[in-house]
Amino acid sequence: MVRLISFLVGLGFIGALLFALGVTVYGAVTEPVPESATEALHREPKPLALASDGFSGMVDPRQAQRGFQVYKEVCSNCHSLSLVAFRDLKKLGYSDAEVKKIAADWGSKQPVQDPKTGDRSERPNTPADHFPKVYYPGQGVPPDLSLITKAREGGAAYIYSLLTGYEDQTPELIAKHPDAKTPDGLYYNPYFANLNLSMPPPLAQDGQVTYADGTPSTVKQNAKDVAAFLVWTAEPEMGERHALGYVVVGFLIIATVLAYGAYQTIWRNVKH
Ligand code: HEC
Repeated sequence: MVRLISFLVGLGFIGALLFALGVTVYGAVTEPVPESATEALHREPKPLALASDGFSGMVDPRQAQRGFQVYKEVCSNCHSLSLVAFRDLKKLGYSDAEVKKIAADWGSKQPVQDPKTGDRSERPNTPADHFPKVYYPGQGVPPDLSLITKAREGGAAYIYSLLTGYEDQTPELIAKHPDAKTPDGLYYNPYFANLNLSMPPPLAQDGQVTYADGTPSTVKQNAKDVAAFLVWTAEPEMGERHALGYVVVGFLIIATVLAYGAYQTIWRNVKH
């Protein structure tokens, strides 16, 4: 008798579970969860080919120099680059004298505090200094760009897409996705995770910087170059690492040949 009761109770539980499952499945089929605005509108980064791609890639120093110019003339108004020192720029092909001049002429200076009086003042940058921190008074928090290509999925391609991806929202888009409507003070960019961000389009027109090497200065070119520069800031020793890889593989090949020779010599007279 007890057995029968527990069997029936168990059956009742299973029945309730099956019923709940049925209701859930029916609900999911008849009223699917509507696609969110982010799912519908967010885009993956555009493809971008750079010299630093791949396992033996190296940053093109001339492109990175152009990218540095874009950073200096545009992005550095709002974004810090505090993990990079002026003298690191020598790796991009700038001479000692050029680096000295870039540091001395840099718009913002290094803060100093007198250890005795506590008074704060400023002094000019030297090549050994890191790029001074930037304080942005506007809306939003511009992230430090030193490691940004490592910190965002898509890396350089994401930076390029973000800089070239600003759009105006069409009335149809707003009608279809009212919650994606750009709030006041933000800008619509489908490559940004939240669709709307507080960075005004920094590269709004062609010719914003004038390249010394004569490369046509279009928005796309500026965006590509600054993305290449930010690949370098995130990993300045990439070239050396990749070059060292070849040395290591070469050494391993030689070591393998030597080991095989030794094996042949040692076992020459042994029957096996
Ligand atoms: C007028 C100031 C301003 C300028 C100039 C500017 N930015 Fe920004 N940037 C911002 C602000 C503010 C944010 C934060 C946006 C947010 O989170 O809503 C931001 C965010 C970013 C982000 C991060 C996006 C993310 O995924 O979180 C990147 C990358 C970026 N900027 C790159 C650049 C580059 C490269 C330049 C130069 C071509 C540049 N910015 C110029 C203000 C600026």
